[in-house]
Amino acid sequence: MTVATAPGKVILFGEHAVVYGRPAIAVPVNQVQARAEVEDAPAGSGTTIVAEDLGREFRPRFVEPGDRDALALAHTVGNTLKRLGRPADLDLRITVSATVPMGRGLGSGAAVATAVVRALASHLGGYLTSRDVSELVYQTEILHHGTPSGLDNTVIAFGKPIYFVRGQRDEVFWLGRPFWLIIGDTGVSSATREVVDDVRRRWETDRASYEARFDAIGAIVERARQAMIDGDLTELGRLMDANQRELKAIGVSSPELENLIAAALSAGALGAKLSGGGRGGNMIALVDERTRDTVRDALAFSGAQAVIVTQVC
Ligand code: PMV
Repeated sequence: MTVATAPGKVILFGEHAVVYGRPAIAVPVNQVQARAEVEDAPAGSGTTIVAEDLGREFRPRFVEPGDRDALALAHTVGNTLKRLGRPADLDLRITVSATVPMGRGLGSGAAVATAVVRALASHLGGYLTSRDVSELVYQTEILHHGTPSGLDNTVIAFGKPIYFVRGQRDEVFWLGRPFWLIIGDTGVSSATREVVDDVRRRWETDRASYEARFDAIGAIVERARQAMIDGDLTELGRLMDANQRELKAIGVSSPELENLIAAALSAGALGAKLSGGGRGGNMIALVDERTRDTVRDALAFSGAQAVIVTQVC
């Protein structure tokens, strides 16, 4: 049996502005993981996929076209076998599970796909670079999201901080110093696509001020990359606060997010902001070892539905 894993992710800087060509930074979240196991199955039995979290077992060949989750897994397996030059219906049993929460902007779909690609390559003895893995996972992301930016598959397949400009650049970079993040979930569901559409409508009615906000966010992202490389966590925290002010100004924050951000800052976080689509979903706070537990408890006390503590390195 062969096992592979992949982390979740959060966007640290640049959400929304990234849709308009500005840079963004995302980091892996190793505290949550997707896991795939591949084992040989009896001759002639073909491929079976077991999705433990969905409580399902199915044959990729017989997936219904409307069955999105099963289809994404079946495509991931099919595309990987093709890339490895292997026949489509090998006798394999593939079991997937994840502690990455689904639909919370933590990249669960890309994490599961990355674990599956890695487990298959390693079980079948194929060689795939992180770039190859990222490209295969992007094909699955298209099924999940229609027109994905490519950020999730890149940060998860490389497992390192990524500086990203949609359709142009993705650069892995190294931190001067590891840091701790606390991720607090408001528990409010918010469809990223709807928030993105709403920002577009606002941008259409007032392009000049939205473009200026996006430029300001782009400048924050550039400074944040440098602060991460320098290991300057005080500056990084200030930049998170500055990014949050811009996100609030473009109308994607919410009372629940502001409440958790304020709680994190009063408990001593170096900076805090929403992460991802906004209007709900997650916020993130930058902490050090001294403030980590206090901020975690303050978020739980202030109504966070889930709190993840993770070290970024
Ligand atoms: O919520 P997430 O992690 O899927 O991030 C959405 C990020 C946006 O910039 C708002 C949209 C996008 O496609 O980049």
